[in-house]
Amino acid sequence: MSDTDTVVTQLLEPARKLTKSMVTILDLGSGAGCLTRALRRHFPDAEIYGVDYSEVATTKAIAAAKAEGIKNVKFLKEDATSLPADWKGKFDWVILYDLLHDLADHVSVMKEVNRVLKDGGVASITDPEVHSNHRDNVGDSYVAGVGYALSSVSCLPRSVAIEGGAGYGVGWGTENKKSF
Ligand SMILES: C[S@@+](CC[C@H](N)C(=O)[O-])C[C@H]1O[C@@H](n2cnc3c(N)ncnc32)[C@H](O)[C@@H]1O
Repeated sequence: MSDTDTVVTQLLEPARKLTKSMVTILDLGSGAGCLTRALRRHFPDAEIYGVDYSEVATTKAIAAAKAEGIKNVKFLKEDATSLPADWKGKFDWVILYDLLHDLADHVSVMKEVNRVLKDGGVASITDPEVHSNHRDNVGDSYVAGVGYALSSVSCLPRSVAIEGGAGYGVGWGTENKKSF
């Protein structure tokens, strides 16, 4: 089993307890589409979308899906703060994998997640496990140490990319995210 298949299995276990139907699935902030393409191995009959606002990431994702001959996955360049109007109540399962801390406008994105979910649909949110109080991360050289370093040149700039952007990055931390 590949790493991405393992991630799908881990995400699916709690999601399955909340919803039985997995006919329409949205991978929000899908990047180059590794997770999105793995989803289709688990749900060959589902209608699966990968959405990212990066042209470069979306182009890569489309090319990889084409090379693998994948038919039931669509990759679209869209901003998660403003998803297509006709997606209201469309999805059984919305996945935000490694996205939340990158966002400049969390509130608008979560409103959109709520809007595009079916009644009884489920959202799975996975983010790096880092404490919000930085002292509590002492000794965690991997997730906190490497995560902070990468975040300061990647996630953080993305999160301040718009006027008034949150600017959280990985350092936002689990406790703050839970209260959000
Ligand atoms: C850390 S990457 C994770 C990519 C993918 N989920 C994965 O795990 O491989 C976060 C992705 O979210 C995208 N992103 C950030 N803000 C976004 C927004 N407002 N709308 C759509 N995509 C966004 C970025 O372009 C980036 O590809």
